[in-house]
Amino acid sequence: MKLDKKTIDFIEELNNKFEKSEPKEVLSFLYKECKGKIALSSSMGAEDQVLTEMMVGINPKTRVFTLDTARLFPETYDLISETNKNYNIKIEVFFPDNKSIEGMVKEKGINLFYESVENRKLCCHLRKIEPAKRAFKGLDVWISGLRKDQSLNRFNTKLVEWDEVNGLMKVNPLLNWTEKMVWDYIKENKVPYNKLHDKGFPSIGCQPCTREVKKGEDVRAGRWWWEEPENSECGLHVK
Ligand code: ADX
Ligand code: SF4
Repeated sequence: MKLDKKTIDFIEELNNKFEKSEPKEVLSFLYKECKGKIALSSSMGAEDQVLTEMMVGINPKTRVFTLDTARLFPETYDLISETNKNYNIKIEVFFPDNKSIEGMVKEKGINLFYESVENRKLCCHLRKIEPAKRAFKGLDVWISGLRKDQSLNRFNTKLVEWDEVNGLMKVNPLLNWTEKMVWDYIKENKVPYNKLHDKGFPSIGCQPCTREVKKGEDVRAGRWWWEEPENSECGLHVK
């Protein structure tokens, strides 16, 4: 997809039209418009589980993919399996390139991320951003579970954005939802969720880079906790 005048106008039109709409309304519209070139990228987090439920409800053949960095929690693998069974879907799993990871580990060590922000970003790049490029191939629309109140970094996110890196539209249907709305939806609809959420992990990424948060702490405080909060993005959500 190209960012031409038509696409810019379409993005603006969608942002105006759907600014206050329910996520399901946005998703139904996109399914009609995008004719199969739409997929959810799921980290298997609470927001993504809500979106999986909504998208499978609209289209049982919905495409969901996850980026397996090979450093995920065992609970996350259990959830991939449980979600597939529950919704009768096959979440596509994308792995990093083995040669790049072997080279990185040989040069910088297995737990390189604790040593510098540069190392951490390299690891995220090779384990997440590179495989994401393969996952995005052929897509026009990427559905993501970002919410405004997850962090300051995410406050200026729009419902529909242009992803310059991957050349597609990114849509964040839960942008204006609160954490409570996410959890109410999960409970009401019996959506399967990661067991770690009940153990103090509101946001879950890779095992060595995620820890539980204390009461009152930011929901993303457990992600790359040793770094300054303004760094706490993996690079998937570049502006
Ligand atoms: S992030 O810093 O890891 O990107 P977060 O866990 O809050 O942040 O996820 C935000 C959104 O990024 C998710 O809703 C999902 O769309 C996408 N995402 C993050 N991690 C992955 C992953 N491992 N696989 C697929 N999508 C992901
Ligand atoms: Fe590597 Fe940590 Fe990034 Fe996962 S979150 S890709 S382990 S640096």
